Amino acid sequence: MSNALGRDLAKLVAAVDAAASECGHGAYGQHFHIMPPAGWLNDPNGLCQADGVFHAYFQYAPFDVNGGVKMWGHATSRDLMNWDYVGAPLLPDEPFDCHGVYSGSALVEDGRIRVLYTGNVKLPDADGVFDYVNSGRRADTVYVESVDGQTFSQKRVVLASEDYPEDLTCHVRDPKVWRDDDGRYHMVLGARRRVDGPHVESRFCAMHGEGAGRDVGEILVYGSADMLSWELESRVSTPERFGFMWECPGYIELEADGGVPARWLSFSPQGLEGGRWDRGNVYAAGYMPVTGDITGGDGAYELGEFRLWDAGFDFYAPQEFTAEDGRHILISWMGMPDEPTYDNAPTVACGWQHCLTLPRVLTQDGNGCLLQAPAAELNALRGEARQPADGETVETDPCFDLTASPAGDFVLTIANGLTLTYTEADRTCTLRFTDAAIAAGRTERKAVLDAPCRSLRVVGDASSLEIFLNDGAAVLSTRYYPAAGKVAVQLCGAGSTLYSLSI
Ligand code: FRU
Repeated sequence: MSNALGRDLAKLVAAVDAAASECGHGAYGQHFHIMPPAGWLNDPNGLCQADGVFHAYFQYAPFDVNGGVKMWGHATSRDLMNWDYVGAPLLPDEPFDCHGVYSGSALVEDGRIRVLYTGNVKLPDADGVFDYVNSGRRADTVYVESVDGQTFSQKRVVLASEDYPEDLTCHVRDPKVWRDDDGRYHMVLGARRRVDGPHVESRFCAMHGEGAGRDVGEILVYGSADMLSWELESRVSTPERFGFMWECPGYIELEADGGVPARWLSFSPQGLEGGRWDRGNVYAAGYMPVTGDITGGDGAYELGEFRLWDAGFDFYAPQEFTAEDGRHILISWMGMPDEPTYDNAPTVACGWQHCLTLPRVLTQDGNGCLLQAPAAELNALRGEARQPADGETVETDPCFDLTASPAGDFVLTIANGLTLTYTEADRTCTLRFTDAAIAAGRTERKAVLDAPCRSLRVVGDASSLEIFLNDGAAVLSTRYYPAAGKVAVQLCGAGSTLYSLSI
């Protein structure tokens, strides 16, 4: 269902997308990762599989390479690797989403893709000033559904901003919905609780307002019998303050041996500071194991240790969904918002910015850690295997898949501009850029492993690397910009197997 504004917007988007497809994405255009046709992409949204087809929607701002009013772009695939961009079906064309069709999720039922998202509205005060934290913003939860994934029903507000708890700021968003075994729907929403009191200095205050040093990130859990009428079931947070805002929450339930499901709370907290947080990315994305159940409302849950999903430079706002074959698949934005030290200037110069990660299949290691493995469909892209000896330098296409089983220290060098160094003594993997041209401002990130590193897998696309250690117990992802053509790869410390990938 569309209105006159939506129809005009759709024409504008189609014109921009078509003009962009004439120009292409340049040397850094990705081959098997989802990227925007033009302009800016951020979070994955509405991930699902319906009738064999995978649908990946994404936050899309086609008119400006540095972002703007968001809509949902849409890509489809039958194998998680070959993606077709098919348009932008959810546009900011209603009073309740006029400043952005923000992030949300989907559930497939009876052949319908049922979607919940956040309608973003900015409200200026009488002087035209936006207090985006405490009063100048609406964030209604909106329901919409589709049979083909492209044509959607009339949008319907199912929770208005007034319906959220009163002690929250205006930052409430990113519904992630699921249905439990009893057929009841649940949804988590990311939120920022207002804490009044003396000023607490924080490096985030300048950008996020005075309360960024005090406010508390939390998750609202709602329940429903029909996905339309929602009631608050519980509010989830950590005993100690853990950042001021939790974005893009998700509740992941994996079947476990013995029938007791294992659960994790995923979210992207903003405002972590001190110690390792000051050495890392501006915002984090991670998960905590959950003992008990967050939907209970009686506090009968406990959160375990927070682990980063990915210790690399470019990973934020991931979303998980269950494929028709039961696999739990995680896809993330391979980017970082508001990061002051690095960027993607080489693709910005070409009129586009950001991409999503590979689909990663989640399993558990039994100790509260989730393992991430590239979806097996990637293997179908592999050409003939080469077996570089320990220390041998080989030239490869930028699209490659390298695997190794190290037994101790190793150093992997890629494109003479980036190294991955593992030292067994402290079980630390360091990803370090040694060439400014390919780094676009990136410097160094570290992952400390729980166990000695015994498996390494690196998947390269034209301008990204995703590094999986110990079967994906730790992952480091980064965008990088090697000189076009071939890249040289050298692993010292182990032999390896190297495939080039083609799509
Ligand atoms: C996370 C996020 C979400 C929001 C969306 C807007 O990157 O800020 O919280 O819904 O992006 O594009």
